[in-house]
Amino acid sequence: MKRSTVKELLGPGEIGRAVYLKGWVRTRRGNNQVAFIAVNDGTVIHSIQVVAVLKAFPEAQMKRVTTGSSIAVRGKLVESLGKGQRVEIQADEIEILGDSDPGQYPLQKKGHSFEFLREIAHLRFRTNTFGAVFRIRHVISFAIHQYFHDRGFFYLHTPVITASDAEGAGAMFRVTTLDLNQIPRKEDGSVDFSADFFGRPTNLTVSGQLEGELGALALSSIYTFGPTFRAENSNTPRHVAEFWMIEPEMAFYDIHDNMDLAEDFLKYLIRYAMEHCRDDLAFLTEMIDKGLMDRLNFVLAHSFERRTYTEAIRILQEADRKFEFPVEWGLDLQAEHERYLVEQHFKKPVILTDYPGEIKAFYMKQNDDGKTVRAMDVLFPMIGEIIGGSQREENLEKLQNRMHTMNIPGDELWWYLETRKFGTVEHSGFGLGFDRLLMFITGMSNIRDVIPFPRTPKSAEF
Ligand code: 4AD
Ligand code: MG
Repeated sequence: MKRSTVKELLGPGEIGRAVYLKGWVRTRRGNNQVAFIAVNDGTVIHSIQVVAVLKAFPEAQMKRVTTGSSIAVRGKLVESLGKGQRVEIQADEIEILGDSDPGQYPLQKKGHSFEFLREIAHLRFRTNTFGAVFRIRHVISFAIHQYFHDRGFFYLHTPVITASDAEGAGAMFRVTTLDLNQIPRKEDGSVDFSADFFGRPTNLTVSGQLEGELGALALSSIYTFGPTFRAENSNTPRHVAEFWMIEPEMAFYDIHDNMDLAEDFLKYLIRYAMEHCRDDLAFLTEMIDKGLMDRLNFVLAHSFERRTYTEAIRILQEADRKFEFPVEWGLDLQAEHERYLVEQHFKKPVILTDYPGEIKAFYMKQNDDGKTVRAMDVLFPMIGEIIGGSQREENLEKLQNRMHTMNIPGDELWWYLETRKFGTVEHSGFGLGFDRLLMFITGMSNIRDVIPFPRTPKSAEF
């Protein structure tokens, strides 16, 4: 007989039919006549109740039905008399698939802290919370492809190993096959990378943008969706060393088109989650963050406030509140500043544009004032910066000048510069931090809790 999932069994279907279920025991309660076993197989947040009349089963076997064990159940799907569920399974046969020693299984019924669950990330999928988070993670990944596919964007696979530093920030992980105990050296003592696998220094990508631009400048609209790596030593609830980024890049888009796309895209994904992840979101709202649904609705209900960085600095300076980090024109904004603007001042998501060139990457289009660039950061409640993007500098000479002042090696990026030489056009793009978006959609307050196996400084277990 074909196995049914819990999702199928709890969905519409004929009562009284014979069913076959496999899953993990979440809890077991009862008395000396009957056992109520909650079985979950991860297909939905809910478990299904299996009712076993003890005298119908060998005692030694029933003893092995413990929290964490895996079982297969044959029985009948019946209407449930108990509270909280419409149907349950009346068990005729129970097979133990895998034992779980109750003295050793770390997930007990009591609530565990997220910190503790991070230490057992291999098992935390089996909790309601992480089941919900990772189902939502899947649904949103799917929605991203749907969104762009429906709008004629092409999914472009940009390299994970690259020789360039796309952000010019130097926070990269080196990729090498050199023997670190016997590093080949040139006469002047420096490392001889010609002996390395690629014959040159390479690293894990910090962003697919530069290659994305090459694609957009032929295919019109592309997007990337892949892992990116940053060797910044920041231990915050919003930073990880390995995260997933979505980077659309569009020819013939200026910064306003770019902002329109970013806003529409974010709202689409949030709406998609609300429509397709109802049960999981209801659970997270109830158990993790009572304000979650309101925050999701809040973003959908408002058009994003669009202001310049300069205006934001003035607002922050006039705020009757002290910030930990200084507020001064020319300095980058911190999460506390971003959240103040969104949560206290404008009370809606904010898009800030036209940042000082000195705190933004080399490729951003230069404004005529000679000081600012056509950057756009989207700021969200709870999160702060969720998207960073810009219109790109399409003028070869201006781009080269800025690369020169910022010490970006133009000879290594000859291929990037050639797009400005041959048929250059206005274009724009942005990067959405996928894991930060998931924090927002799930209400989880630490990025480590929306990534199956997070990578942070001094931590690469699993
Ligand atoms: O602002 P960033 O650095 O922009 C870029 O990488 C551009 N190349 C994007 C583009 O224009 N195509 O990063 C974009 C987003 C941030 O807004 C943030 O959401 C996320 O990526 N992000 C991180 N998420 C988790 N951990 C980190 N260490 C992150 N660094 C950036
Ligand atoms: Mg940024």
